[in-house]
Amino acid sequence: KEIKKGRITHQSPSNIALIKYWGKHGVQLPNNPSLSFTLTNAFTETKLDYQSKAKKESKTEISLEFWFENKKNKKFEQKIYKFLENLLPTQPFLGFVHLKIYSQNSFPHSAGIASSASSMAALALCLCDLEKNLLNTLQNEEEFYQKASYLARLGSGSAARSVYSNIPITTWGQTENIKDSSDLFASPYKLPIHDIFQKYQDTILIVSAEEKSVSSRAGHALMEDNPFAKTRYELAHSNLKKLIIALEKGDTETFIEVVENEAFVLHALMMCSSPPFILMETGTLTIIKKIQKFRKKTGIPICFTLDAGANVHVLYPKKHKKECLNFIEKKLKPFCFEGKYLKDNVSYQ
Ligand code: PMV
Repeated sequence: KEIKKGRITHQSPSNIALIKYWGKHGVQLPNNPSLSFTLTNAFTETKLDYQSKAKKESKTEISLEFWFENKKNKKFEQKIYKFLENLLPTQPFLGFVHLKIYSQNSFPHSAGIASSASSMAALALCLCDLEKNLLNTLQNEEEFYQKASYLARLGSGSAARSVYSNIPITTWGQTENIKDSSDLFASPYKLPIHDIFQKYQDTILIVSAEEKSVSSRAGHALMEDNPFAKTRYELAHSNLKKLIIALEKGDTETFIEVVENEAFVLHALMMCSSPPFILMETGTLTIIKKIQKFRKKTGIPICFTLDAGANVHVLYPKKHKKECLNFIEKKLKPFCFEGKYLKDNVSYQ
């Protein structure tokens, strides 16, 4: 029998949600639709080396070595092992080969920037190519990416939105506002996007490099008993509807209203969970206030969004890059951990 071996490489971008996914059910299915900008500079590159197992080796066990940033990483290896083991019953080809996975991020891992989305997406794309190589399956491009997004979703929900490179916006989750939307996988956003949002800038301010005080897994679980959960899910739908129109019209005022509301609501939900969590730091609030003040003073449509952590994503049109970077360097940098921030922008086709 022929020995099959090879190397597969994929790069996947990080994404920043404008409409947030927070709360899930069943097998990693979202309780509301989400929409994200795809980033350009922040990405994960994953290489997967595979070699078919010898005849007498078990084909129903995962064989894995995991390297992160050129070092063997047991903690990540265990996580990935579990992920692959869970996939095994439906993706039996994963048991046919020895796997060595090498992963690295374009951004510093000590910066408190979540890398689960980009890393699970890159891995999922590698797995889809592995299936193709081992089983000679034929899929069209759309099916290929949908399967990658499906697998990425099982690793980390927001990773479903990171399998598409060079696509500015991605959505995940069933909504009447987007044709063919699905809870099972994310899709590239095909509705009109006004020029003002082309190469929209995202400067990521590192307020804290510490690990989050609540994992997103625990955060999603807390939504089950959150007294505002139902209202939140309805709000996500109406915010998405408003955002879709703002994206088409180039209406930055509505864009800002929706995007900042989504960030505040995410954090408010955490604050009124039981037990409660405050994920913002003092610096986060100072930065938010300064952004709002600068916007009022200059009329520049600059705004912010937050992940489930203390860092701030500052969003603004490319045409205001110079003034905004100047403002960030002078007024916001002092509130960043070790003065750190990363310049990124929304991916484009
Ligand atoms: O993919 P998870 O389970 O880590 O959840 C991510 C949740 C947020 O980043 C807060 C929002 C989102 O939609 O990305």
